[in-house]
Amino acid sequence: MRKKVVLITGAAGEIGHALVKALARQSEYPLVTLDLQPLPEDIDGLSTHIEADLLDANVLDRLVSEYEFERIFHLAALLSTRGEFSPVMTHEVNVNGTMRLLRLAAEQSEWRRRPVQFIFPSSIAVYGLPDLETKRQYARVREWEWNYPRTMYGANKLYCELLGVYFSQYYRQLAAEQPVMVDFRSVRFPGLISAFTIPSGGTSDYGPEMLHAAAKGEPYACFVRPDVRIPFMAMPDAVKALLDLAAAPAENLSQRVYNVTSFSLSAEEFRAWVLKFFPQAEITFEPDLKRQAIVDSWAADMDDSAARRDWGWQPDYDVQRAFEEYLVPNILQLYQPA
Ligand code: SER
Repeated sequence: MRKKVVLITGAAGEIGHALVKALARQSEYPLVTLDLQPLPEDIDGLSTHIEADLLDANVLDRLVSEYEFERIFHLAALLSTRGEFSPVMTHEVNVNGTMRLLRLAAEQSEWRRRPVQFIFPSSIAVYGLPDLETKRQYARVREWEWNYPRTMYGANKLYCELLGVYFSQYYRQLAAEQPVMVDFRSVRFPGLISAFTIPSGGTSDYGPEMLHAAAKGEPYACFVRPDVRIPFMAMPDAVKALLDLAAAPAENLSQRVYNVTSFSLSAEEFRAWVLKFFPQAEITFEPDLKRQAIVDSWAADMDDSAARRDWGWQPDYDVQRAFEEYLVPNILQLYQPA
């Protein structure tokens, strides 16, 4: 008998770190985590951890022989800045990794005659606005607008959303008998900010980097112009979005990919919030024109009304609460001298 579990890939990453903690408190099934890296100390022991490469066929074979996946949170990915330095490998990890897992989920859905739920974090990086004038005009993009990403990561996320929809609705559509299909659900996140971890390899990283540098008493040079604006979200809300979408009754979902967002800030406004709590912080602007061009192509805000309507999405943290109640108190503790 295979053991029923919830699988989390990329569990040692930023979202994984927060999600594993939350799931350990509330999951009906034991957790199996997969990552190239060992788990950070504070979540070690909350799951059966497999330190391995998702692209290794033997690893997936072993997983399938041992476990029945009730739900998969597929978080493993290389982010948008990192992806531009090794686009072929990024495609390999982001697309082929997702394809392998979707096939696994499809096979298990058929075998157990019940859909495996597949939760996929997508990103604001799927948007690609051609210039700042268009970005001003389309201030709050809806899911289907401006899907012209200009990074490998963004293109990978957009394509994997489509693959997910395919495996949920059209897989083997010409077969005489319809298979039981995967239950794929995805949220497009804005830039995420955690109080406990610093992102690596993303292009929205200037926000969290600014804040963590200030808390550490280090100077920081922001790599985009002061007026560059994108939406952000505090990590507890990102976890909440994943869990709420997973828990939503299937009949309430009118689409499989949803925008979710919390608050939009320009880099200058982000700096002002940081200065409010760390008045000594030294934050300057030294734009890296290439990374800035990527953020300029992302929407200034996202319309998340479909998520609000279909599954009651609502962030707990607006910008004030995010800084006052989650980010600053936890960051102060994190960098407190022992
Ligand atoms: N935070 C991600 C990045 O910057 C966007 O999803 O790549």
